Amino acid sequence: MKNHSYNLLFAIMFAIPVSGMAADISHGKSLQQENCMSCHDDGVYTRNDRRVTTLDGLSKQVKRCELTLGLQWFDDDINDVTAYLNESFYKF
Ligand code: HEC
Repeated sequence: MKNHSYNLLFAIMFAIPVSGMAADISHGKSLQQENCMSCHDDGVYTRNDRRVTTLDGLSKQVKRCELTLGLQWFDDDINDVTAYLNESFYKF
């Protein structure tokens, strides 16, 4: 009986798709929409004289703005928002 329930547990664990290191873009999008529109809107990502010019720079800027907000996001959250902004606006 005990063995049986362990097997079931493993079956469930492996049935759930593990996204691994892949960024969750829709999560990044909702984080961004919930937290990042108070000082600037989406327009700052597409303006002609935008400051961010590399993917690394984008990640650093997301972190900088997030720290200003005092949100204490995890690295995964930074990555998700960076991936969302890159896919939707920056396209590095
Ligand atoms: C406390 C105000 C504030 C908040 C809140 C804020 N930002 Fe910013 N953000 C700024 C300022 C100021 C700049 C620089 C604008 C400039 O250079 O004219 C900026 C610029 C940026 C840029 C660079 C735009 C470019 O020129 O390419 C990105 C990317 C960015 N913010 C992302 C975010 C994200 C993601 C969040 C949410 C975690 C966020 N910001 C929240 C103040 C804020």
